[in-house]
Amino acid sequence: MGQLRHMLRDDDVNHDEQKQILELGMKFRENRFYHRPFEGPQGVAVLFDKPSTRTRSSFSIGVAELGGYPLVIDKSGSQLGRGEPIRDTTEVLTRMAYALVWRTFEQSRIEEMARVATVPVVNALTDEFHPCQVLADFLTIAQFKGGVDALEGMTIAYLGDAANNMANSYLLAGAVAGMHVRVAGPNGFLPDDAIVQDAEAIAATTGGSILVTTDPQEAVRDADCVFTDTWVSMGEESQYDVRSKPFWQYQVNEELMALAKPDALFQHCLPAYRGKEVTSAVIDGPQSVVWDEAENRLHAQKALLTWLIGKQRGDESLLS
Ligand code: CP
Ligand code: NVA
Repeated sequence: MGQLRHMLRDDDVNHDEQKQILELGMKFRENRFYHRPFEGPQGVAVLFDKPSTRTRSSFSIGVAELGGYPLVIDKSGSQLGRGEPIRDTTEVLTRMAYALVWRTFEQSRIEEMARVATVPVVNALTDEFHPCQVLADFLTIAQFKGGVDALEGMTIAYLGDAANNMANSYLLAGAVAGMHVRVAGPNGFLPDDAIVQDAEAIAATTGGSILVTTDPQEAVRDADCVFTDTWVSMGEESQYDVRSKPFWQYQVNEELMALAKPDALFQHCLPAYRGKEVTSAVIDGPQSVVWDEAENRLHAQKALLTWLIGKQRGDESLLS
């Protein structure tokens, strides 16, 4: 029996399902044409209310490689951008497309889309979460650190704006994976209690743990992978001045990286601001895997779309 599933936030999949998607991602890494679920071609609508380079290219090329047609719609060229209700846009697209992918603002907007859609809906970044990015980030750890099974029990540290979409996604996805997740940022830029509580509840079932701290050293010490992100997310550009000062001690530089494990990886979802949240010595240095991480958006999202379509069709052959 088919089952309509969405990926709106990282905990929309459980531990075993996340592993299944990541294993599929490893298969797509080895063979770009491992599955072709959209052979037809069938259309996938990819909508953007915010700018993008990586998400746009990885979904466009990814859907094409899956045998489908990527219909990319920007806010400026859509009726949604002029105020057409989300419900009406979704009613139309869900009758034509085989999956809907959306980058937008409030999480409530994509939740509304998912309530109406009769095909899988994928969050391509909201103000609250960026689950596709974190799937790619975990695939990158699997790539360099001994496969998907090795993720469980690893320690990951995220530094910087700990109230943003990336921090929230690391908390939830890391908990699902059974990782020890440490998130560090200044007071005023720490995650909402509700997200931390959700992550703690999941971690209690997977053997992971959650630490939220204002101490960057405590977060990074002996970590297997260190992450950061811009201090000024899309939509916050007017706060540029306010959003620099509190973050300096969370800049990922060589001194902080030296506290992590000697073979620790450095990842950044990109775009990066060298000299702000990360120094060039780190992001362009030997521990950085940011280009593999960006490439893995392609493989991880193809795996996710294939898995969601496999679930909807009740086609087990697409799940592995
Ligand atoms: N990391 C990421 O989502 O990049 P883009 O904003 O370029 O899509
Ligand atoms: N936190 C960043 C992520 C960009 C991929 C933003 O939302 O702008």
